[in-house]
Amino acid sequence: LEQGCLTIVVLGASGDLAKKKTFPALYHLFEQGFLQSGEVHIVGYARTNLSDDGLRGRIRAYLKGASEEHVSEFLQLIKYVSGSYDSGEGFEKLNKEISDYEMSNNSGSSRRLFYLALPPSVYPSVCKMIRTYCMSPTSRFGWTRVIVEKPFGRDLDSAEELSSQLGELFEEDQLYRIDHYLGKELVQNLLVLRFANRLFLPLWNRDNVDNIQIVFREDFGTDGRGGYFDQYGIIRDIIQNHLLQVFCLVAMEKPVSLKPEHIRDEKVKVLQSVNPIKDEEVVLGQYQGYKDDPTVPDDSNTPTFASIVLRVHNERWEGVPFILKAGKALNSRKAEIRVQFKDVPGDIFKCKKQGRNEFVIRLQPSEAMYMKLTVKKPGLEMATEQSELDLSYGMRYQDVKIPEAYERLILDTIRGDQQHFVRRDELKAAWQIFTPLLHDIDAGKLKAVSYKPGSRGPKEADELSEKVGYMQTHG
Ligand code: BG6
Repeated sequence: LEQGCLTIVVLGASGDLAKKKTFPALYHLFEQGFLQSGEVHIVGYARTNLSDDGLRGRIRAYLKGASEEHVSEFLQLIKYVSGSYDSGEGFEKLNKEISDYEMSNNSGSSRRLFYLALPPSVYPSVCKMIRTYCMSPTSRFGWTRVIVEKPFGRDLDSAEELSSQLGELFEEDQLYRIDHYLGKELVQNLLVLRFANRLFLPLWNRDNVDNIQIVFREDFGTDGRGGYFDQYGIIRDIIQNHLLQVFCLVAMEKPVSLKPEHIRDEKVKVLQSVNPIKDEEVVLGQYQGYKDDPTVPDDSNTPTFASIVLRVHNERWEGVPFILKAGKALNSRKAEIRVQFKDVPGDIFKCKKQGRNEFVIRLQPSEAMYMKLTVKKPGLEMATEQSELDLSYGMRYQDVKIPEAYERLILDTIRGDQQHFVRRDELKAAWQIFTPLLHDIDAGKLKAVSYKPGSRGPKEADELSEKVGYMQTHG
């Protein structure tokens, strides 16, 4: 049942993720009419001693610029319950809060959504508490769903352990593993682009594509998160999840239908077709100054930058390198996919000198898609140059507000749509790809080279891209 009384519980309500992402996303859903007063009730739960108004004040600080009237109405939906993450007492209190609300609402339904904005170390105990004390009662229509956020483990074994702990408590269709990259507009556009355009169908393969890059750059360092980051590194923080999800959507075969299970089946298949990563196709970097953070050990080898070539062993992609690259403290903030096509055979125009056809999908900032083409330079001469077919969202969709990733994903959870969430076997396949490499890095067998903050990252990464076939176009 997708209607009736809905309670959204944000666990870890006083933490950073909740304040910066979860509550603002809930507010935007409220503002657009997806969460209605009288039907929805939001409860923040955390250990901190805080009043309802205390929590509301903290949330308000992150809703600057929004309509004062809407914000006040939204905040009235929020209650706060304090308690620990492993004691029955707190969760009994929480359950009472939810049940009282459900009783006062006469719909006879009970939809309960638990958002774990918490460190994964407490997931098992919190899930156990929810399972024991807070499930939607069978006497009412409804459901219980739990949203969890990465990191899901540190490697294959720890991830599998976590999965089986949660799997004992909840069915797979109750668990929503969020990867917020799947909520980004242009990531959601990938399947449409690929499978609804005749233009791309015959081109999207090894006969035509030379190489594909999936790149994430940030122009700031680990700012205050060094302690957390140092235990994970850029591969676990960005590549194994966000970039690999994008990779799946770029590389997978056409699903039988748009049903979430059909899509996720294809994602698993392409992940399982990835060859073991070769050491010589990896470049790791660490920016100078990273270790100045007092929470980072002086001898840390944790990469803040990595460029890794994935090779897919299947009919479509054999021989095409997928370069997954991510870095902190670089010269720009950007996330993009670059599909570079092969050179024109029997070329009579010297196209190669000007650069290849390249299809670029910029996920952020300023969503855009553009295609690099060789055209005749306008004028009397028969000269050629590179130009672009450009679809910039800011220009083409001027009046459309592109929703935040978290907004979309929370709405999907309320609607019970798991398409944009990571399934357990997908997670396992993702860890299988990176675990051997991660273990070698942890054991110090692979070293991170240092790079200047504000630069492009280690020059070795550009050399690697060039070696596997990427041709940079200038101009
Ligand atoms: C998070 C990472 O998952 O994604 C952060 O932990 C990173 O390190 C962030 O900054 C990037 O997200 P976005 O949406 O800003 O690209």
